[in-house]
Amino acid sequence: MSKIKKITCIGAGYVGGPTMSVIAQKNPNIDITVVDLNQARIAAWNDENLENLPVYEPGLDAVVQEARGRNLFFSTDVNKAIAEADMIFISVNTPTKTYGKGKGQAADLKYIELCARQIAEVATSDKIVVEKSTLPVRTAEALKSILDHTGNGVNFHILSNPEFLAEGTAITDLHNPDRVLIGGENAEAIEALVQVYEAWVPRERILTTNLWSSELSKLVANAFLAQRVSSINAISELCEATGANVDEVSKAIGQDSRIGSKFLKASVGFGGSCFQKDILNLVYIARSYNLREVADYWEQVILLNDHQKTRFAEKIIQTMYNTVNGKHIGFLGWAFKKDTNDTRESAAIYVADHLLAEEATVVVYDPKVTAEQIYRDLDYLGTRSPEDNRRLVRVVNDPYEALAGAHAAAVLTEWDEFKTYDWTRIKADMKRPSFVFDGRKLLNRSELESQGFAYYAIGE
Ligand code: UDX
Ligand code: ADP
Repeated sequence: MSKIKKITCIGAGYVGGPTMSVIAQKNPNIDITVVDLNQARIAAWNDENLENLPVYEPGLDAVVQEARGRNLFFSTDVNKAIAEADMIFISVNTPTKTYGKGKGQAADLKYIELCARQIAEVATSDKIVVEKSTLPVRTAEALKSILDHTGNGVNFHILSNPEFLAEGTAITDLHNPDRVLIGGENAEAIEALVQVYEAWVPRERILTTNLWSSELSKLVANAFLAQRVSSINAISELCEATGANVDEVSKAIGQDSRIGSKFLKASVGFGGSCFQKDILNLVYIARSYNLREVADYWEQVILLNDHQKTRFAEKIIQTMYNTVNGKHIGFLGWAFKKDTNDTRESAAIYVADHLLAEEATVVVYDPKVTAEQIYRDLDYLGTRSPEDNRRLVRVVNDPYEALAGAHAAAVLTEWDEFKTYDWTRIKADMKRPSFVFDGRKLLNRSELESQGFAYYAIGE
């Protein structure tokens, strides 16, 4: 197979957009077109003003600036981009099913299948099709079957190339990946993709496996990471009961090189588009092979995460004399982690929902998340009417406004700027007693206590 000259990526989201931007930056001789059905999203990727890119990631603007218009293009013309490409990445969303068999657990492959059918219909030359979205094991097989049965007699080679970037650090993760994983059956197709990455990734960090190992490795990597968070969060509750401090425990165990120090930060619960979805998928797959113990084991990671979010909301209610009805709670942060505008599965959504059920008034400030997104997240839960969500929740652009007149402040996201606020000023404007509930263990207890705050943090 000759060198790849044209790549198309279907799906211009959090994975497709940044990944293709970096591949284009590092491969100036390959033309890359990212396509999406969502016209507004494509318009935002093409916006002259780089502050309007649809995905917020530190460093992304500079990469887009360098490559866009040179060899990186964003378009809604999906068919044209498919027809022209030698290699097609599928990077569309694979949400958890909300209906039918596997509802609430299995991945919804509707978008993937639609892509496969479209590729088969349009392609008139051989293509390498790369799975970039997180997919259940053996999706490649289904893709291949659709492509081969509905295509125009051209050859399709399927590769699995899961993305391991974390949001908020996507650009550094892409520039300097721990490993790149490529699964496939056809050596030439694998080599073609290896060459794309070799433009900047050392060869020894590019691992090649069979298709199924690659697909499963992605689910397992996320399951292990999420499991670490749930493990330390379980210990955080034990710390609160026994007087131990979870940060001290994390540090003590993390120095054991067999355990390692990363991903041991207790929190209000993990969020993001991947962890829950991938574990649910793993659980679903295990159940479908009748591996009950395996399924139950991994499911516990999610149950503990749900418990952590509920526990945090309950702690707020209990501490505030068992009622938050009519009380103003200022939320610092809505994104599922710092340095991203992504809110998918964010703990903040569920904590807010719990407090709103008790008729609290929630006033939210997040440096990057829009008011529309916050209302959309709450409306999507379907717990109460959109009118009630707007009656009980206000979104502001200034953190001091979020906390003016508040009975309590709750830290839901670990944005760095929260540490730099003038807490003396905040205290002066809050009701007394002034509670701070720190779901990220971000603030300084002794400083806040010396100013008269009643400070509660996870795991202390
Ligand atoms: C994750 C994986 O890290 C990445 O490899 C994969 O490609 C996609 O899923 P992401 O969801 O973007 O990435 O963010 P990550 O940094 O893993 O954080 C996930 C959640 O866990 C966040 O809500 C974060 O706040 C939480 N977390 C993480 C903790 O609560 N404590 C920790 O110690 C680490
Ligand atoms: P991820 O985090 O996996 O990147 P996103 O939801 O951010 O997920 O992005 C997926 C994108 O894929 C969305 O912008 C959606 O519009 C797009 N998409 C889904 N199906 C198709 C399709 N058949 N053709 C083109 N784009 C699609």
